Amino acid sequence: MCGIVGYIGKRDAYSTLIKGISRIDYRGYDSAGIAVSINGSLETLKCVGAVSTLKKETSKKNACGTVSIGHTRWATHGKPTKANAHPHLSCDGKIAVVHNGIIENHQALRKYLISEGHKFTSETDTEVIPHLIEHLYEGNLEKAVAAALKQLHGTYGIAVIRAGEKKIVAARKGSPLILGIIGKGEYILASDIAAITEYTKKADYLEDGEICVLTDKGYRITDHDDAPHSHIVKTINWSVAAIEKQGFEHYMLKEIHEQPETMRTIIAGKFDFKNKIPKFGGIRITPLDLKNLDRAIILACGTSFNAGLAGEYFLEKTAGLKTEVVYASEFLCKAEKLSSRDLVIAISQSGETADTLAALRKANSDGAHSIGVVNVVGSTIAREVNSGGLYIHVGPEVGVASTKAYTGQLLSLFLFSLWLGRMRGSLKPAEAEAEMKRLTSLPALAEAALKNEKKIIAIASKFKNATNFMYLGRGIHYATSLEGALKLKEISYIHAEGMPAAEMKHGPIALIDKKMPVVFAVKRDDGYEKIIGNIEEVKARKGIVIAIAEESDKEIHKKADYVIRVPDSTQELSSMLFAIPLQLLAYHIARFRKCEIDKPRNLAKSVTV
Ligand code: AGP
Repeated sequence: MCGIVGYIGKRDAYSTLIKGISRIDYRGYDSAGIAVSINGSLETLKCVGAVSTLKKETSKKNACGTVSIGHTRWATHGKPTKANAHPHLSCDGKIAVVHNGIIENHQALRKYLISEGHKFTSETDTEVIPHLIEHLYEGNLEKAVAAALKQLHGTYGIAVIRAGEKKIVAARKGSPLILGIIGKGEYILASDIAAITEYTKKADYLEDGEICVLTDKGYRITDHDDAPHSHIVKTINWSVAAIEKQGFEHYMLKEIHEQPETMRTIIAGKFDFKNKIPKFGGIRITPLDLKNLDRAIILACGTSFNAGLAGEYFLEKTAGLKTEVVYASEFLCKAEKLSSRDLVIAISQSGETADTLAALRKANSDGAHSIGVVNVVGSTIAREVNSGGLYIHVGPEVGVASTKAYTGQLLSLFLFSLWLGRMRGSLKPAEAEAEMKRLTSLPALAEAALKNEKKIIAIASKFKNATNFMYLGRGIHYATSLEGALKLKEISYIHAEGMPAAEMKHGPIALIDKKMPVVFAVKRDDGYEKIIGNIEEVKARKGIVIAIAEESDKEIHKKADYVIRVPDSTQELSSMLFAIPLQLLAYHIARFRKCEIDKPRNLAKSVTV
């Protein structure tokens, strides 16, 4: 989750770098640093804590027409200290490196380099890189970098500069690196689109195993043996405004309120009413292979895993495809080998989650078909699936707690299951058309669900000091209960547990007391009576019941202490609508608790290690 920025061009390096790393600070960090090549030497500035410290230190400086690199660090090896902050330097102070990833063989390399006379000043794995490049440098920086990379095991996204050389050498393996093309000889390199969109919409995504040399004459991409590579330059549709908070106190609140819009965008982009089937041109699996699939296996982490649980419901009910949802990290522990009759669906907002990427790579090597459900265009997972996939197109999700990406994943998974049902013949055209027609009302229903915010604020104020919450739901709303609990935990730091409503009786009911708020997702479906029974069990033990319930439910207010209404809808649409009040409840409780909502402690937007 470190952030990398590099700049070469005529603008002032300091202000360009500081702005760049400020745009990616949401990824979570504990220290930061920059290096600028000036008058034949490198100036390096580092800080522990906020990037604003660097901004103060550089406010009176400028350096135009030079090369520079910057970094925000989220500690993996070594405490957050100035010495451990990047950039890291070679012994002669002429080579500076910023790095995102983990060098697994750093101890062995450190031992060797020390035996060769190199002096280390930090505890980090990264510091072996500048010393190794220095050790291998014979007058050509990119050659020395290529030779060094061959000795590194692990993952890296790096940017390297050398005093007096007007070039940046970048390379990636397992950590994202994107090249923003501002103009000929002017480039901004970053680990995240957010740092680029201010300067350009033209982006070239580096692939694993590639090296990119940027100079004021142009840029060149090769492999480690100097064989040239070329890519199609992509256009970034995310404006800076889309990244700014647009008047909301936090990115998270902005993104919660964006959901009707993001749903509208997804629906508009996917509907083909003429053929009565959603459009999924990006799936590269033949109709015969789709028909021959035995099962789908959804791999994901965190909120994306919770979306996968709802996806299981969609795929089994609508596409008639047996589906399993597995935590990506747990998938790696399974002995089972997949086959071409398996469809692996990797769900990831960032497209960079290390556990999901590792699980995807195992699935690919087993010969399964793999597709992605991803938000960030050009991300590693989006490029490593072997059978295409779908982008959820909810725009940049800056808040660490996922909200619009969650409902975007649910909606995209539901549309995908309609498409798959039609491709496999398990869904008739008329059924698909009816579902698609119902979906067109979703954005307006989401708008109605958002209108409860004032009531939710009042409830949040009552429970801001609770120490434990329980979230309960049945069927598809088991996913809702897990997601509601995760939202509360990660931004308010209150312990919360989500589970199937019926599971409460098998132990957790012992936790219920008059201080325990229990949030129920109450859908008026065939499990309604059972969930009312669960509510009565909680009330009998003096628990406090907060019910997310439908507008047409005339009974619930007699049972629950607090009722938050959402519009009536189908089972599938309710999985998206019920999430909205739970997002708002978590947000406002965290707000009352004055938590760092967009950058919660210990968390990062994308867990790339
Ligand atoms: C969700 O609010 C969290 N930020 C986290 O659980 C996240 O969903 C998880 O790390 C997976 O991230 P991804 O979707 O980018 O793969």
